[in-house]
Amino acid sequence: MADNAPIGVFDSGVGGISVLKELVSIMPNENFIYFGDSKNAPYGTKSFDEIEKLTVENAKYLRNKGCKAIVIACNTATSAGGKAVREMLDIPVIGIEPALKPAALMCEHPKIAVMATPLTLKLEKFANLMEKFDDNAVIYTVECPEIVGFVEKGILQGAEIENCIRKYFEPLKDIKLDGIVLGCTHYPFVKNVIKKVVGEDVKLFDGGKGTAKELLRRLNEKNLLSDRKEKGKVEFINSSGNTEIEQKLLKER
Ligand code: DGL
Repeated sequence: MADNAPIGVFDSGVGGISVLKELVSIMPNENFIYFGDSKNAPYGTKSFDEIEKLTVENAKYLRNKGCKAIVIACNTATSAGGKAVREMLDIPVIGIEPALKPAALMCEHPKIAVMATPLTLKLEKFANLMEKFDDNAVIYTVECPEIVGFVEKGILQGAEIENCIRKYFEPLKDIKLDGIVLGCTHYPFVKNVIKKVVGEDVKLFDGGKGTAKELLRRLNEKNLLSDRKEKGKVEFINSSGNTEIEQKLLKER
């Protein structure tokens, strides 16, 4: 058995492309529809109710386009709306959460900083995740509401974004961090700037690969993988009407 319907992937904007890349890399024959809700970005500074509603709408939209599975390629949307989407749809729904586990287990009692949006860090889902690894690591949280705006504009380097990230890490400047969790899918696009600020020896963790592996496992388990022999296609849709930055970011590495 096989299913050649597309896989729906969405984010508050262009950040989910960092996850889409991992999906395409391990499932090259699948078709994907990527929906970026840039009109409503950023999600991370809005309320739980607003984001839950937008998350449900985005998932419904992709389901109505015939998608066989949904990837919520946004930590904020997963935290606020993942549960509602899973309850609403009878197809595999995969979310993303900050990759705290590999970071907390990287060595004996590491010092870890989790960068994420204010909403992700505020919600119970994150509090539960932190509690799980509290004994293994010293965990600091760093709210980074403005990075999304730069990435949405396609600004991935330069003084402005570097100063912004430096400002976020100012309170931690005397701490020798071992690892940083990129708890928002926009951040992998600025990992070089983050490294420049925190130092090359600090290890960065993001949840993109883990999410892709989990989707592959779930599709396989339900016999929903495509049997297409040729390379699949990616269709981009953005609520702002412009998909130029998405196309550019998919090529970025
Ligand atoms: N990319 C999103 C995340 O992973 C949210 C960014 C935003 O819109 O604030 O959390």
